[in-house]
Amino acid sequence: MPLTLITGASSGIGKVFAERFAQERHDLIIVARRQAELEALAERLAPAHGVKVHVIPLDLAAPQAAGILFDEVRKRGLEVDGVINNAGCGVHGLHADLDVDALERMLNLNVTFLTSLTRRFLPGMIARGSGTIVNIASTAAFQPIPHFSAYAASKAYVLAFTEGLAEEVRGHGIKVLALCPGPTRTEFMATAGIRPKGIKYPQAAFMSAEQVVEAGMQALRQRAVIRIPGTVNALMARSVAYLPRQLVTKISGQLMKSSQQ
Ligand SMILES: NC(=O)c1ccc[n+]([C@@H]2O[C@H](COP(=O)([O-])OP(=O)(O)OC[C@H]3O[C@@H](n4cnc5c(N)ncnc54)[C@H](OP(=O)(O)O)[C@@H]3O)[C@@H](O)[C@H]2O)c1
Repeated sequence: MPLTLITGASSGIGKVFAERFAQERHDLIIVARRQAELEALAERLAPAHGVKVHVIPLDLAAPQAAGILFDEVRKRGLEVDGVINNAGCGVHGLHADLDVDALERMLNLNVTFLTSLTRRFLPGMIARGSGTIVNIASTAAFQPIPHFSAYAASKAYVLAFTEGLAEEVRGHGIKVLALCPGPTRTEFMATAGIRPKGIKYPQAAFMSAEQVVEAGMQALRQRAVIRIPGTVNALMARSVAYLPRQLVTKISGQLMKSSQQ
């Protein structure tokens, strides 16, 4: 059975990815900080789908987290076929006002950990001539977002990194996908200090984690490199490339400004 490692599987998009891969009869390694949530998920999914679910509780924003996780997987004698780099968080507000510790932890998680974990598992995939890497970016990756500047930049990094990686491994049998959700109903906004109702974005365009994951699974089947779930999200994210950057930045700042909790 293929073995898929999913970070941030204790809630939201990562939890639904775990459910979907278990349905497809993948063994799983699920990782996040909340051990009780991970164990409850493992106890539910393993008997329901006849798969093995390995739980690794870990703070992935801590320094060296990628090496610690990689070593733990090796110590357990597991060979990973797919990595879903989903764990991520945001810090909302004017950059000058952000809590420095929270900011640095976000960058560790969204950028450093994701990049380093990919680096560790990639050689094994190349050697086997197969593998899957899904990096969760965001529609925030497509333009600067004042009041959410560092988060948007971290997701622009994820998008560019993933596109580069996809080209590097072309011909090695590895699927590489940047999944770029727009606003999604999960714990993300509350954790980031955002009031969903405050975002001046069509509320009808908000998606469920299930819809986002379904779009991701379809993109993997189609071997897409970038996928933006939802028509409104895709239109908005793609259209900014044709507009003056400064105007786009001003507008995106206005959309986010009044969403602070
Ligand atoms: N929701 C949106 O509107 C939206 C839009 C675009 C992109 N995204 C991206 O989608 C991804 C998933 O977010 P979500 O919406 O599903 O949010 P979520 O419900 O808040 O889930 C985030 C997951 O990441 C884990 N996580 C956070 N900090 C961690 C840490 N330091 N160490 C280990 N695990 C950590 C959380 O687990 P623990 O708390 O148990 O550690 C949780 O399982 C993120 O990369 C986010 O940036 C979300």
